Amino acid sequence: MTPKIKYLVCNLKANKLKEEMIEYERELKNIKVKEDTKLIVCPSFIYLYMFQNENYDLGSQDVSEYTEGAHTGEITASQLQSMGVKYALVGHSERRETFKEEEKTIINKIKKSYHSHVKPIYFIGENELEKNNNQTKKVLKQQLKNIIDEVPDYKREKLIIVYEPIWAIGSGETPDNSLIRNRIQCIKDFNKGVYELNLPVLYGGSVNGDNVDELLKIDNLDGFVIGGSSHNIEELKEIYNKI
Ligand code: PGA
Repeated sequence: MTPKIKYLVCNLKANKLKEEMIEYERELKNIKVKEDTKLIVCPSFIYLYMFQNENYDLGSQDVSEYTEGAHTGEITASQLQSMGVKYALVGHSERRETFKEEEKTIINKIKKSYHSHVKPIYFIGENELEKNNNQTKKVLKQQLKNIIDEVPDYKREKLIIVYEPIWAIGSGETPDNSLIRNRIQCIKDFNKGVYELNLPVLYGGSVNGDNVDELLKIDNLDGFVIGGSSHNIEELKEIYNKI
């Protein structure tokens, strides 16, 4: 059975110069959109103004943990909202690892997003060592608990979860379908069993035009986050057309 893919999130990361981004957006707004699938594009902050078309939804790759004020270099959730941003990526492993973002910061970012009606897309996933030590399920549950416990009940159902095994990001290596299915089910069962929540769970990590057909056989998936493959508009179109 092919799953009902509700979200395709494009994480453009720190890529493209201005002219390239203008060209990218021109192509993006001409993609023939499907009614039930949300195409969410997350460019660098400086390019958000270019992405103002109803063909897709706009997301940011990060959000400040602070509100407006004397925070040089920060971009707040309310500023993002004023630019038409509907979603914010929070807790991406590159932020956790390179920028040493800790749970407390991630919680603050999620709270600030909610406050400005920007929906958080929250990333969880195990690293190579945790995988090898059979810690994956424990790590995933803890990462979910850390956030959900901090969010008021009525806002919890707006969370979108992304399962990204850190060892698979940008590696060209995707886990096999049974592993992904199993992890996604573990996340869904935990959310349902402990919090009575039916949250969408997306998969990310080296999804591309070649492996998406195979990944689409995973019946409990709600969508994908694509990094490297979304940078090339033709490959993005290929993936979008397949889902
Ligand atoms: P990737 O990135 O598709 O290049 O592995 C995914 C991500 O980092 O969100």
